[in-house]
Amino acid sequence: MYRTHTCGELRIENKNETVTLAGWVQTVRKFGAITFVDIRDRYGITQLLFGEELNKQLDENPLGREFVLQATGIVNERSNKNKNIATGDVEINIQSFKILNKSEVPPFTIQDDTDGGDDLRMKYRFLDLRRNAVKRNLELRYAVNRSARNYLHENNFMDIETPFLIKSTPEGARDFVVPSRMNAGQFYALPQSPQTFKQLLMVSGYDRYYQIVKCFRDEDLRADRQPEFTQIDCEMSFVEQEDILNMFEGLIKRIFKDVKGIDYTEKVERMSWEEAMWQYGNDKPDIRFGMKICNLKFPQYIFPTKENISSLIESEFAVFNDAETVVAIAVPGCSEYSRKQTDELIEWVKRPQIGMKGLAFIKCNNDGTYKSSFDKFFTEEKLKAIATAAHAQQGDLILILAGTEERTRKAMSELRLEMGKRLGLRKENEFKLLWVLDFPLFEFALEDQDGGGAGRWVARHHPFTSPKPSDIHIMINNNPKVEDLDKYLEHPYANIKANAYDMVLNGNEIGGGSIRIFQRELQEKMFAALGMDKEEYQHKFGFLLGAFEYGAPPHGGIAFGFDRLCSILGGSESIRDFIAFPKNNSGRDVMLDAPSEINTKQFDELQIKLNLK
Ligand code: AMO
Repeated sequence: MYRTHTCGELRIENKNETVTLAGWVQTVRKFGAITFVDIRDRYGITQLLFGEELNKQLDENPLGREFVLQATGIVNERSNKNKNIATGDVEINIQSFKILNKSEVPPFTIQDDTDGGDDLRMKYRFLDLRRNAVKRNLELRYAVNRSARNYLHENNFMDIETPFLIKSTPEGARDFVVPSRMNAGQFYALPQSPQTFKQLLMVSGYDRYYQIVKCFRDEDLRADRQPEFTQIDCEMSFVEQEDILNMFEGLIKRIFKDVKGIDYTEKVERMSWEEAMWQYGNDKPDIRFGMKICNLKFPQYIFPTKENISSLIESEFAVFNDAETVVAIAVPGCSEYSRKQTDELIEWVKRPQIGMKGLAFIKCNNDGTYKSSFDKFFTEEKLKAIATAAHAQQGDLILILAGTEERTRKAMSELRLEMGKRLGLRKENEFKLLWVLDFPLFEFALEDQDGGGAGRWVARHHPFTSPKPSDIHIMINNNPKVEDLDKYLEHPYANIKANAYDMVLNGNEIGGGSIRIFQRELQEKMFAALGMDKEEYQHKFGFLLGAFEYGAPPHGGIAFGFDRLCSILGGSESIRDFIAFPKNNSGRDVMLDAPSEINTKQFDELQIKLNLK
């Protein structure tokens, strides 16, 4: 027997027991004739005491960091107890030991505050995974997995695996492709999601499906994106949007309870996409804090103001007058910002990532007066009117950005998040869920997207998403063709809303889904709207259209980004920390050194000749 206990198990109650532990050497501390060794495994760390006798053996066979050690001895009460570890009341007085394996000196220290940089830790990920911080993340991931499975099982969902070697599933990214040896010149695509399979399973009558499944997308990577990531993928038959929202609100609340001990009893807030864009500047608002965006100028299109307040900013001030849009937020309690602080904010918005030319501000002083960076052009009366429109209180600092619609909106959304962070309003341990609803069904691609051509409609979610029941007639009765590209917003298709929903947690999109199209006619209409001719959609999706002719039930579903959900629950920005073997920002596995070249024989078998440009 290699061990009687784990390294995290022994307590004062085990005093005087003879035990055997096995694990990795964390530290070796020699004090004259005795040596203390901390031994570690997945469960914890225990102090071993090597007395005079054994010290001689240790001198002959010195222990090093990360050696694999087996040691037998008697549990003793420690004289100086360590309250920071669970086994801190005891130490083991070692009688015999065996080095099970040696270790090279690790390239970085295996402890919480390691000295290893990112690249080094990824190269030696198997060592990094020994660290507590990483282990805790994987434990959390497993807890989320278990909780989700339990909830879904209790609600009659069935885990059904779907294939990885498939034909393209359009989720808006590029496919990873795999050449087929047996079908030379032909390729599989790895699934961007199991979307079409789960729909087929609904046609087959498995009315509640789920899978915790890998998805593959060849897209530009960010902290919250990996080329292969995991979804909690679900689909249900005979449901409407409301049923889905309730069922999956339940799932996330259950995960909160099981994993974080949080009773999220309140109903999850809901917001239309338009409201999100209008009040927060993006479609995944962090609603842990207010600071809603006020649009001071009637925008040209997309996000009409509820009331026309454009007169407020009419003046000789060209920065406002000439701008397509002018937006403001009221930052609470910051009216006393110094010149240095406002200058720093101006520099912040000028950074290339934000890309604004400048920032205007109004200080709503506590004595009821107003002071702005553009006083020359505005009376105090007018500043006060702007403050009222922006819902500012005395003591607030109003920040104003002016420029083109899209950039300014994005910049203000970033500035709002930044101010929220600086003021400590984005608390790590506060969780706020939100459903974003009523997305537009289509976006218009003015520029060429992935070779699909310019000047055409693209699906905002994916082509299987149904329009809102009340908007289906718009699709049926109108030709998708846009005659005048400048006026695409006036086309009826621009107003069609999708029967789709995203779940947002603390400003992150953790899940998205929709009620699906389940009739062939409407699905064909959708493909045609996206610019596919009959031959193309028959070739790509003939199997699904065919299935719709054999009694497809009404259905809908959702998929959650499992890695993303874990990282938010674990309080980290990066999903990599929650994946055992992640890829780096260039999509490489630096440990395996993948992707890599393949040999000539493999090319021959595949009948492929490399012709790199
Ligand atoms: P969608 O494309 O919105 O929907 O994906 C669902 C969720 O998966 C997560 N996600 C990612 N996580 C890490 N890395 C990525 N590259 C990545 N891309 C997406 C996000 C997202 O909300 N088939 C549909 C779902 C459906 O309609 O049922 C789909 O895949 O958290």
